[in-house]
Amino acid sequence: MILVTGSAGFIGANFVLDWFARHDEAVVGLDKLTYAGNLENLASLKDDPRHIFVRGDIGDAELVTKLLKQYRPRAVINFAAESHVDRSIHGPEDFIQTNIVGTFHLLESVRAYWSGLADEEKTDFRFLHVSTDEVYGSLAKGDPAFSETHRYEPNSPYSASKAASDHLVRAYHHTYGLPVLTTNCSNNYGPYHFPEKLIPLMIVNALAGKPLPVYGDGQQIRDWLYVKDHCSAIRCVLEKGRLGEVYNVGGCNEKANLDIVHTVCALLDELRPRADGKPYREQIAFVADRPGHDRRYAIDARKIERELGWKPAETFETGIRKTVQWYLDNQGWVNNVQSGNYRQWVEKNYAGRD
Ligand code: NAD
Ligand code: TYD
Repeated sequence: MILVTGSAGFIGANFVLDWFARHDEAVVGLDKLTYAGNLENLASLKDDPRHIFVRGDIGDAELVTKLLKQYRPRAVINFAAESHVDRSIHGPEDFIQTNIVGTFHLLESVRAYWSGLADEEKTDFRFLHVSTDEVYGSLAKGDPAFSETHRYEPNSPYSASKAASDHLVRAYHHTYGLPVLTTNCSNNYGPYHFPEKLIPLMIVNALAGKPLPVYGDGQQIRDWLYVKDHCSAIRCVLEKGRLGEVYNVGGCNEKANLDIVHTVCALLDELRPRADGKPYREQIAFVADRPGHDRRYAIDARKIERELGWKPAETFETGIRKTVQWYLDNQGWVNNVQSGNYRQWVEKNYAGRD
């Protein structure tokens, strides 16, 4: 069996659902269920005997040690994190606690467990750390895309905390021999994406007749990857990745934010036209920029393709259409995550931006 942390979040839940579509190997999910964790994402597994869910913190060494002893996983995949840049600007402390201190405690618990395994199990064990391209900082137009050897230059409390966790993971391999793998992926989109991030926020606001807040000039570039392609990359690295190596994962889909918003609006015009017949893009509102906003991210994913044969299955056009359709088909999920806590966040982040 495998242990998946952060399994009730956006990517973790997609990973677990996809895993069971392909494997019968059991999964223990460990998630603190912060505002971003949602058991409804895993509702289809409620009576599935292959799935065990435990609510808890990766930093709780006693609990993690107990779970490792009890379930004896052959791998740990670490998705658990605070993940939203804007939240890290308003309140960095949770990011330091979970992404740095939490990852440290998790590594310590895993190291103790791994040290006690028999030789063969020890050789086969893997700790896969899921990280982000944001650790590499910001690119200017025309700069080459981030390769695995690009220097770390994190600019937000979020990316700095992820960078620190990547360094700890690396150090546990070099110092203790822990069999680790790290993936640094670009921006994901797809089902179960919490509607505080760009794409789901635009879909949800558009349908609710609300403004579509574009930060600054909207010309910041991200490299978008459909979440299920990220999941397939992680399975591939888990199976075939070379120990201690880093693999950058990306979709070769560099898009400016404004173009993303235009695409979402055009799909909604087609799939769920506004009652007044006007285009959704009329709802776009340019608002004050994010402090320290990174201008461009782009991933050079040639290593994972060359060494492991991984390639994304979706183009941006197919992935974004599926995503918009998913939100149209799952309005109940959207309504449930828009709790009081969600509304407070929207108020805090967008008040005073115009
Ligand atoms: P998310 O915020 O949707 O989910 C994170 C999950 O971790 C939530 O379920 C939350 O409850 C849980 N969690 C938070 N603190 C915890 C703790 N201390 N102990 C246990 N569980 C805890 O994030 P996501 O978008 O699914 O991202 C998952 C991972 O992938 C993160 O490590 C993130 O840095 C990385 N990543 C995300 C993207 C992206 O575009 N979303 C891209 C590259 C890498
Ligand atoms: P986000 O989804 O928060 O991901 P990240 O900051 O990790 O890349 O944001 C994606 C891009 O969209 C980023 O450049 C910020 C921008 N953005 C907006 O323009 N308006 C918004 O309301 C949000 C949430 C993001």
